[in-house]
Amino acid sequence: MKHLTIPPAIQAWIGGRVGRTETVGRSGSAVVIYADMVLKIEPPCTETDRAVTMMRWLAGKLPVPVVLADERANGMRYLLMSRIAGEMACAPAWLDRPAVLTDRLAEGLRMLWAVDPTGCPCRCALDDELAFLRGRVARGEVNTADCTPGTFGPGSFRAPDDLLGWLEQNRPDETLLLSHGDYCLPNVLLTEQGVAGFIDLGACGLADPWRDIALCLKSLRRNLGGFFGGPVRPAADETRFFAALGIAPDNERLRYYLLLDELYV
Ligand SMILES: Nc1ncnc2c1ncn2[C@@H]1O[C@H](COP(=O)(O)OP(=O)(O)O)[C@@H](O)[C@H]1O
Ligand SMILES: [Mg+2]
Repeated sequence: MKHLTIPPAIQAWIGGRVGRTETVGRSGSAVVIYADMVLKIEPPCTETDRAVTMMRWLAGKLPVPVVLADERANGMRYLLMSRIAGEMACAPAWLDRPAVLTDRLAEGLRMLWAVDPTGCPCRCALDDELAFLRGRVARGEVNTADCTPGTFGPGSFRAPDDLLGWLEQNRPDETLLLSHGDYCLPNVLLTEQGVAGFIDLGACGLADPWRDIALCLKSLRRNLGGFFGGPVRPAADETRFFAALGIAPDNERLRYYLLLDELYV
């Protein structure tokens, strides 16, 4: 593949290392994993601009990859970063221990919320997200066939613009804290000691905590429920999850952010 012709500035870092190409992730990008580094190759996009900005801002504040090199060639962007230790939270070793898993995921969220938001360069509050989604909906980019069944149709929302209108009319109050933005299990790396780090920061910025809580629960439910393949496991104890978060469940906010997420599909 042409894009696997690695630019010299990146090759200088890689030297003789041999990588393995990772296929997890829906973005269509190539990710090559080396012993101590990761190379992400993808068409240039604003998400990667944001991921790089946030990785730089979060350095020393949270365990996120260190940006080692960032090059453009062959119409692609080549982002070389340090490798975070541990295994993805969706690995069978963690899914088989749902109590440990939910505790770790809650710990990860609390680490995000403990970051001082002062000076954070990116914002993903509802103003920003709804304005962005207005464009997506107008351009007909929402792929309703891939949305959660029941989101659209009889007794539910007619179409994406109907859902967007509801989201605009029913905005909950917000508390702006650091939000990962795609807090799904493959983007959180865990070790036996705890949360090793956070990756895939293209939607990271200040937002209400319920944005990440909703995505975390959706991903946890789907991964344990066999949605991505693998065995169907017992559901997680969500009471335990909220106790570990130190937050009372709020079904309205949860529903709001789950519905908001449907417009990114
Ligand atoms: N810095 C990193 N350290 C460790 N593993 C990584 C790193 N970056 C990516 N990976 C691995 O590659 C996978 C896909 O990378 P990710 O940045 O999440 O891309 P995608 O946009 O495809 O989800 C991750 O789920 C993880 O397994
Ligand atoms: Mg990812």
